[in-house]
Amino acid sequence: MEVKLVTTLVACLLLSLSYGGDAQPCTVSDLAVTQTAMPGKVGGYPQFKVTVENTCICTQGDVRLECMGFNSSVNIDPAGVITSDGHNGLCSLNGGQPVHNGETVTFNYAWSRKISFKPVESTIACSAAPSPAQ
Ligand SMILES: *[C@@H]1O[C@H](CO)[C@@H](O)[C@H](O)[C@H]1NC(C)=O
Repeated sequence: MEVKLVTTLVACLLLSLSYGGDAQPCTVSDLAVTQTAMPGKVGGYPQFKVTVENTCICTQGDVRLECMGFNSSVNIDPAGVITSDGHNGLCSLNGGQPVHNGETVTFNYAWSRKISFKPVESTIACSAAPSPAQ
């Protein structure tokens, strides 16, 4: 009896895990990145404004963006919103802090050239069942 219950629980867990992967209502590409050139210069470099919006109904944490050419010399405002992971060409957004549905993370940077930020990785956390399409 007890063994059967445990087996059932394990089976349910495995099932929900495998479904969890396939049935995600969204992906990392539901992070919308917009970038605009700002007037004026900072430290002699052109300035850009980057906005990352989570358009997924679920929370996305541990967000990693591809950020070729970005390094710690780049002037960021506010500081620490985007940090290089090292030499893998990836950056962490907001120290991995979760970005909830509809929230935006905004930062400015000044550099000799425009850097392209592309979301490549995140941890998606759905606390509630997705509501039907709005
Ligand atoms: C950042 O990159 C620039 C240009 O590629 C380079 O001149 C600079 O030394 C780098 N800074 C660091 C801290 O890696």
